[in-house]
Amino acid sequence: MNDEKSIPSVNLFSPLRLRNLELPNRIVISPMCTYSAEDGIANDWHFAHLAKFALGGAGTIFVEATAIDPDGGLSCGDLGLWADAQIEPLKRIADFMKACKTIPAIQLGHAGRKASSQRPWIGNGALTDKDREYGDSPWQTVSAGSVPVNEAWPAPKPLTLERMDAMRTSWRTATQRALQAGFEILEVHMAHGYLLHQFLSPLTNTRTDEYGGSLLNRMKYPLEIAKIVRDTWPQDKPVFVRISTLDEGWSLDDSIVLSRELKAIGIDVVDCSTGGLGRSPQALRVSRGYGFQVPFAEKIKQEAEVLTMAVGLILDAELANNIVALGKSDLVAIGRGALEDPNWPLRAHRALHPEGQLFAGWPKQYGIWLAQRERILDKIRSDEQAALIPAHRLN
Ligand SMILES: Cc1cc2nc3c(=O)[nH]c(=O)nc-3n(C[C@H](O)[C@H](O)[C@H](O)COP(=O)(O)O)c2cc1C
Repeated sequence: MNDEKSIPSVNLFSPLRLRNLELPNRIVISPMCTYSAEDGIANDWHFAHLAKFALGGAGTIFVEATAIDPDGGLSCGDLGLWADAQIEPLKRIADFMKACKTIPAIQLGHAGRKASSQRPWIGNGALTDKDREYGDSPWQTVSAGSVPVNEAWPAPKPLTLERMDAMRTSWRTATQRALQAGFEILEVHMAHGYLLHQFLSPLTNTRTDEYGGSLLNRMKYPLEIAKIVRDTWPQDKPVFVRISTLDEGWSLDDSIVLSRELKAIGIDVVDCSTGGLGRSPQALRVSRGYGFQVPFAEKIKQEAEVLTMAVGLILDAELANNIVALGKSDLVAIGRGALEDPNWPLRAHRALHPEGQLFAGWPKQYGIWLAQRERILDKIRSDEQAALIPAHRLN
């Protein structure tokens, strides 16, 4: 029945059940590298950075791309889970998130040929011997083939079958360590030109063995890894996979085929981004507007019948709410918006529920004082208005 008053049954603040886990709302803080670790170990920076989000009302918070192997970080400052010593500092972060009633999540990845790069504030290039001056030493990268990022980058070494096998073990053990660290959701990074994306793309995968050639062959290793992670992660906890739904050499139709396969092996959510393989945003002819990747998440949700997460320039609460309420995607990830305002989710709640308790959901240590100030501000505003009305009448 067409009922104008009908309220959408799902909105940005509806919980979402994934296996045995209940996400308190649909807002997720997107994984964001901060290039600030030493030997892959999280430190006070990571705690403070992620704790801000934990106080900000998001349903789920992703820790940045965390390398499964020592040569898998984008930079020397990436987090890692290739060693037991890396577990404890991440556990402190995950525990704090849980204490704040938000779901701790982590993205695992290997940067492949994009590894051994400078921290962004140093430059955008590959590390060279010059970078040793400040302690960052270049290393030999690996990939699905030997195609470099571009002419200025050294060629990666094509992965041997033996190394691919060793990496299966690295993915498995990193997954186990993520569990030991207390995370509830694990995401496999298959997007943004990382190693598994390098296997998917015909531009970077030049192999002539069973892992190269047809789409089916190129998907083989990424799907094997996704399955290893899925089989290792507890069955009652969800696994996400982030993909670049569109890139040079990779179509949305390819993403639909991949997403169906991911769903078949038990992946719970396909996190829908774009690009990153060629490091040339111009080459990817997608015009960037508010929520520009949402249509890709929507298409994958419909065609692969899998839950999706939308991300990219989702700036305001209304847009985020519409994405969920109109069934375009199941989750909304916020990246830079949360860097600018870690309280983005709390503010979104306030914007969408102007009639409700203004500071509902804020940490109790803050909410009481903010509500008290709001009452004072209300009084000031009404006094100002009272003072202005006669003035206006005189005009
Ligand atoms: C500083 C920074 C670091 C990022 N690191 C990662 C990462 O570790 N893994 C990943 O999948 N995406 C990464 N991204 C992409 C974001 O997760 C997100 O998809 C992107 O910023 C678009 O969302 P936004 O417009 O809300 O920022 C990063 C983005 C930024 C700005």
